Amino acid sequence: MNSRVRRAAEILRAGGLVAFPTETVYGLGADASSEAAVARLYAAKGRPPDHPVIIHFSTPENAFEWGREIPEAAGKLAARFWPGPLTLILRRSVRAGDFVTGGQDSVGVRVPSHPVAQELLREFGGGVAAPSANRFGDLSATAAAHVDETLKADLVLDGGASDVGIESTIVDFSGDKPALLRPGAISRVQLEEILGGKILDRNSSSPRHSGGLERHYAPKTPALLVPAHALDSEIAKRGASVAVLAYSRPDERVEYWIRMPREPRAYAHRLYAALRELDGANCSAILIESPPETAEWDAIRDRLSRAAG
Ligand code: TXA
Ligand code: MG
Repeated sequence: MNSRVRRAAEILRAGGLVAFPTETVYGLGADASSEAAVARLYAAKGRPPDHPVIIHFSTPENAFEWGREIPEAAGKLAARFWPGPLTLILRRSVRAGDFVTGGQDSVGVRVPSHPVAQELLREFGGGVAAPSANRFGDLSATAAAHVDETLKADLVLDGGASDVGIESTIVDFSGDKPALLRPGAISRVQLEEILGGKILDRNSSSPRHSGGLERHYAPKTPALLVPAHALDSEIAKRGASVAVLAYSRPDERVEYWIRMPREPRAYAHRLYAALRELDGANCSAILIESPPETAEWDAIRDRLSRAAG
């Protein structure tokens, strides 16, 4: 056992905050059964108290203890995709206090696969409440160096660059039928294959959820989505002070240009680091070439449209 991980588990037990790697993005963790620790977490994030957090566990058995009346379908998704980039919203059990559910009758649970996250969760033993390790509304951190320093974590565990690069897929089982609250690396098609039926979209009865806000996961520089055919004229109109995130080759008029992969997994892996880099370039705007309209790009279109507010 890595001594830093042991130290991190001690900090969690003492009510402190630990930033740790997961396969999706870095999380800022606190003991999910301690109201005081979770209060510190919300204060550090600048997160409104009525927004719930995801609780992380080392095994599905532990995760399911925090839910009740668990639908068979939720068990099937867990069996197929955990550990991995999937969050399930369940009706909560008595273990999940109002301070982690935003006062709602549901709880979000996830079993991450990253080996450092697994080691930490096993060593700690209980549930770890962990939103992404960034200030509320900002870009998520996908490397230890990107964990927002203003969060004042007591310890940051470094587990390298996050493999997936965007937040987990969230499926809500707190209503009558499963609904997709947030698209992610695990696609709608993969979920429907296991469920053997259609999964609903987020709807008006879905629980409150900050990733569902119109502007979220956003850089500070104004960002806008631009279709490929309009990129050239948009650059001409706005001049050299723009930054560009695109599939096409760099244009010599623009100094800050990041060329992105045409494959959605590789694109997701790079997305936040690329936006972060362009955000740091002091440009007047970030022009983002619109991704394809196909289903494999759903999660990326979702994040980009929120980044563009
Ligand atoms: O990949 C991820 O899910 C990362 C890593 C660290 O695990 N975590 C993450 O957490 O993205 P956060 O807090 O930034 O986003 C959690 C999302 C929010 O949109 C929150 O509202 C929703 O999950 N959520 C959590 N519990 C919920 C609940 N009981 N009902 C509805 N939505 C919930
Ligand atoms: Mg977040």
